[in-house]
Amino acid sequence: MRGIKSILFMVKNKKRLLIMILFLLGMESIVLIYNTQVQKYLIDDVFLKQMFDKLYILLLLLFSCIFLHAILNSLIPQVMQKYNYVIQKELSNGLLSVLYGYTIDELREKQTGNYVNYFTGDIQNAAIFVSDDIPKGIQSLFSVIIVSVVIAFLSPFLVVAVILFSLLIYFVSKKIEPSISESAGRAQEAKAKVISVIEEEISGTREIIAFNNKEWEKKRLISIFFDYFKHTTKEGDFQNKVIVRSEPIRWAVIWISLGYGGVLAMQGKISIGSFVVLYQFSLQLMNAVLSFTRFITSSWSQMQHIKRLEFIYDHNKKFNENTENLPSSFDSIKFHNVDFTYKGGKEPALKRINLTLPLGRKIAIVGESGSGKSTISKLLMRFYEPDSGDITVNGIVIQKFKNDDWFRHIAFVTQEAYLFPSTIRENLSLGSDYSNEELEYACNLAQIQEFINQFNQGFDTVIGEHGNTLSGGQKQRIILARSLLRTPEILVLDEATSALDLETERLVMRGIDLERKNKTTIVIAHRLSTIKNADVIFVMQHGDLVEYGAHNELLRKNGYYSKLVEKELLSSYTRSRLDTHM
Ligand SMILES: Nc1ncnc2c1ncn2[C@@H]1O[C@H](COP(=O)(O)OP(=O)(O)O)[C@@H](O)[C@H]1O
Ligand SMILES: [Mg+2]
Repeated sequence: MRGIKSILFMVKNKKRLLIMILFLLGMESIVLIYNTQVQKYLIDDVFLKQMFDKLYILLLLLFSCIFLHAILNSLIPQVMQKYNYVIQKELSNGLLSVLYGYTIDELREKQTGNYVNYFTGDIQNAAIFVSDDIPKGIQSLFSVIIVSVVIAFLSPFLVVAVILFSLLIYFVSKKIEPSISESAGRAQEAKAKVISVIEEEISGTREIIAFNNKEWEKKRLISIFFDYFKHTTKEGDFQNKVIVRSEPIRWAVIWISLGYGGVLAMQGKISIGSFVVLYQFSLQLMNAVLSFTRFITSSWSQMQHIKRLEFIYDHNKKFNENTENLPSSFDSIKFHNVDFTYKGGKEPALKRINLTLPLGRKIAIVGESGSGKSTISKLLMRFYEPDSGDITVNGIVIQKFKNDDWFRHIAFVTQEAYLFPSTIRENLSLGSDYSNEELEYACNLAQIQEFINQFNQGFDTVIGEHGNTLSGGQKQRIILARSLLRTPEILVLDEATSALDLETERLVMRGIDLERKNKTTIVIAHRLSTIKNADVIFVMQHGDLVEYGAHNELLRKNGYYSKLVEKELLSSYTRSRLDTHM
């Protein structure tokens, strides 16, 4: 039932096209039936009763039927195509907004291959089902009814016989239904797996070559592909079974209509013309019944696609619940008793974190690797939701804000940020309009302008996927420039300068400090030297917030922070000694 509900949801706004398709299909059926009926008059009146004056009118009628049929035949696929396109567009948009609305946690649970499959397989199949199969199914049901009525005028017995035989065909197919539906589902899953493995292998190409595990990867792909092949073959086998079992029944109907109609004609109960068209109508009825039952059986597998897409419908409902408008000015951002453990993580990543972020200031989060720094920023970005406790802006839980609003006011730079295989300009602006001056300003702050100037095409230079043609430091600086360009209310830099050398990092941080003087910037840094001047430093250890305060205050406390500083001084001293001795 939920499947039906989601179909209705899909076609909700597109009823006009569907009604038009149904109307055209109905016309097509009627024209076909009328065309057959005309033949009866041609045989009975013109040839047998020799009323030759009727010939021209009947020929004209026949001609117009054929002409109309030809027009409908070319029109219907066009309208269906248009409807199909509209549905695909609607579903793809829905799917994209689902994708962008997920928390990272939810995304991680679903492999990306699944999404590729949703876009390429399920959406297309679901669209064909809604735009072609369902209207044609309705058309065949309509034909069954009309043709039955027409036959009933000549012989009610035949209608009963045909209906009984049709039910037989239906039950034969229905017995095989669960197996078809099950193997169709399995085939879909296997296909999604094939795609996700191919995707993994493409993105992991370098590792596969470097670690020389080509053979293993090949074997893995072949075995998964074989699994897919097995399930589709099985699905095909079951569908063949339906056809093989229903075909003899079809022939039985033809035989009965010929035999029984022949007897009626010989007894003079029906005319010769009626006998000829009775036979044709029986064929039409049979075809309509068969295509209707085939529609029903194929629906079982097609419904799998619709079921796999139901989450779009569910999500859209959930999505509309985030309705709170973001306040125009932020008074406070607070973490209240925030606990968080990653799925599959043994230890909590954050334990009862309470903190108030001073707005309009430079805030630093420090601590050893794994202490929970990134987790704080990811929760703030709503990539995950706290297990308990909450994060509020002006007292409102951040999950309640509209997605677009929230991400317009907060920007996040990590080491994992993505560069698109496109121009530097597009990677900076991400679809918004910025003038060259604005771009240059941000790129100067991020110390990347000089590098861009080296290219003849400047901002219009194309960079490879993941920025493969750039060094790690160049990538980081482009991504930094991208986030500075947006002048977000809150900017989170999670080890965003880790790949830069000391001197460049110092310049970049100085630029950022100047540019974001009265804005909130949260810096997570490995090198403590970059955050010494922060207004407040939060010190994390094993998921606990152990200390906070300004640099000098913390040094005076002589606690964990001063230990971290000592450790860093020691290691940089060792490093410089090593450098001078090399
Ligand atoms: N996606 C994840 N799944 C499971 N555990 C994770 C995940 N990300 C981080 N962790 C764990 O959570 C803890 C905190 O990680 P994180 O906040 O990234 O640390 P930091 O940024 O301070 O280095 C670590 O123990 C880490 O292993
Ligand atoms: Mg981190």
